[in-house]
Amino acid sequence: MNNEIARRRTFAIVAHPDAGKTSLTEKLLLFGGQIQVAGAVKSNKIRKTATSDWMDIEKQRGISVTTSVMEFDYHDYKINILDTPGHQDFAEDTYRTLTAVDSVIIVIDGAKGVEAQTLKLMEVCRMRNTPVIIFVNKMDRETKDPFDLLDELEEQLQISVRPLSWPIDNGARFKGVYNIYEQRLNLFQPSKQVVTEKVEVDIHTEELEQHIGSRQAEQLRADLDLLEGVYPEFDHQAYLDGHLAPVFFGSALNNFGVQELLDCFVEIAPCPRPVQALERMVQPDEQKFTGFIFKITANIDPNHRSCIAFCKICSGRFSRNTPYLHIRHNKQIRFTSPVQFMAQRKSTVDEAWAGDIIGLPDNGTFKIGDTLTEGEVLHFRGLPSFSPEMFKYIENDDPMKQKQLAKGIDQLMDEGVAQLFVNQFNQRKIIGTVGQLQFEVIQYRLLNEYNAKCRWEPVHLYKACWIESEDPAELDNFMKRKYQYMAKDREGRDVFLADSNYVLQMAQSDFKHIKFHFTSEF
Ligand code: G4P
Repeated sequence: MNNEIARRRTFAIVAHPDAGKTSLTEKLLLFGGQIQVAGAVKSNKIRKTATSDWMDIEKQRGISVTTSVMEFDYHDYKINILDTPGHQDFAEDTYRTLTAVDSVIIVIDGAKGVEAQTLKLMEVCRMRNTPVIIFVNKMDRETKDPFDLLDELEEQLQISVRPLSWPIDNGARFKGVYNIYEQRLNLFQPSKQVVTEKVEVDIHTEELEQHIGSRQAEQLRADLDLLEGVYPEFDHQAYLDGHLAPVFFGSALNNFGVQELLDCFVEIAPCPRPVQALERMVQPDEQKFTGFIFKITANIDPNHRSCIAFCKICSGRFSRNTPYLHIRHNKQIRFTSPVQFMAQRKSTVDEAWAGDIIGLPDNGTFKIGDTLTEGEVLHFRGLPSFSPEMFKYIENDDPMKQKQLAKGIDQLMDEGVAQLFVNQFNQRKIIGTVGQLQFEVIQYRLLNEYNAKCRWEPVHLYKACWIESEDPAELDNFMKRKYQYMAKDREGRDVFLADSNYVLQMAQSDFKHIKFHFTSEF
């Protein structure tokens, strides 16, 4: 069992849209032998044909809404890549996926540097001390100076960095990358489609000049001298603790720097890590199986209207047809057809190990955050919900379908599609999202999957704050004063829906003993 667990690398590739996440994923799959030519993996672009876009709405819009998993073997390692939605409106989904990975690769566009979404993603990684590797992409274009980029990464992402590969120039003069970690230069032919033969070059000999010319050879040697002077040795433990991010440079599209990244990644990235449950820390090599649901997607197979709940195995071995305890329902469940995911296929799996992600066919049994065990009562902590950015009243648009609508909303919220608040004053339901697209997905899915018609009505709100206080009288007083703005979330917690920043600030200064939280766990 220990061998199985030690060879697993479960991670996500995340990026600001357009930085090159899809291109990098594709190249990794090429190296893993999972696909033979690039272009087979889904992209978040409308014009590209999509192979792993599962939901109708995705096909219509060309946006990858759901998270999928790609597994492959590379040398002795078993790689599990968790794909995340390309569109920012589904950022919550990405954050949730980050609860199921042991490490993360962040892709940065070398010309644009750190972008808004990168900052937020890094924040989530920091919350959980997730080890992070940074891949600076698009070096075949005119980019910022690599030394400046390193400073920018360090400053904006608030993490120490250590380059482990180094670009030889950029833009039209880009020649490839030097592998600092292995002190080796591999030159590949640029290729958008396939993995090309590599040429190994000793940079301390004239051979280097022959391959990249004397100016660039000199520059590379000078850069490397400077790097060694400025950056301390790579500290593996600091990386594992989430304090240091190794940085790689390359061009995913042209397949430069990707193998350097992958080879180093499998060696330094953590195998499945211990997972904190409410009750205790769970070690991956424990004999008994434990796992939690971090994601639910609907309609993966358009012919069968079932959902798939994605389960991250935290410890032990999962076996098909074995009864496991569903903690929230206190019920034994046996899974007859759990699935595993290849690049574009899924197949039934008989056993899986800590670190793996399995798909469990689900008909409404699961909710995000549900825990499965062999009997022990454990609750794995998910990521708290963040206050939504946009709010709308959801109203029934077909009086005959009230029940369907209620059921649909309930199940979609279980899947974590958005957040639901019920206003305690008028009992109206308010849906909170990160972006407009989520409202459209909800409306579309309610109609297509539940035959229910909904209508959105505007509500002017600024933030949802989960409130608590050690002074019950003050809390009571506050809730009476703000009764029109008080709501309950799905867990029955009290939420204050502030309609402006000003109102929120006033409330904070008037009610000194009340704590206003912008996340659902505190
Ligand atoms: P994303 O998943 O992070 O959103 O990014 P994706 O890989 O789809 O890449 C976004 C765009 O950047 C694509 O161009 C892609 O070809 C391009 N790209 C990715 N890596 C590199 C690179 O290393 N160098 C250069 N020059 N471009 C790169 P597009 O025009 O939107 O799509 P396409 O028509 O090229 O497929």
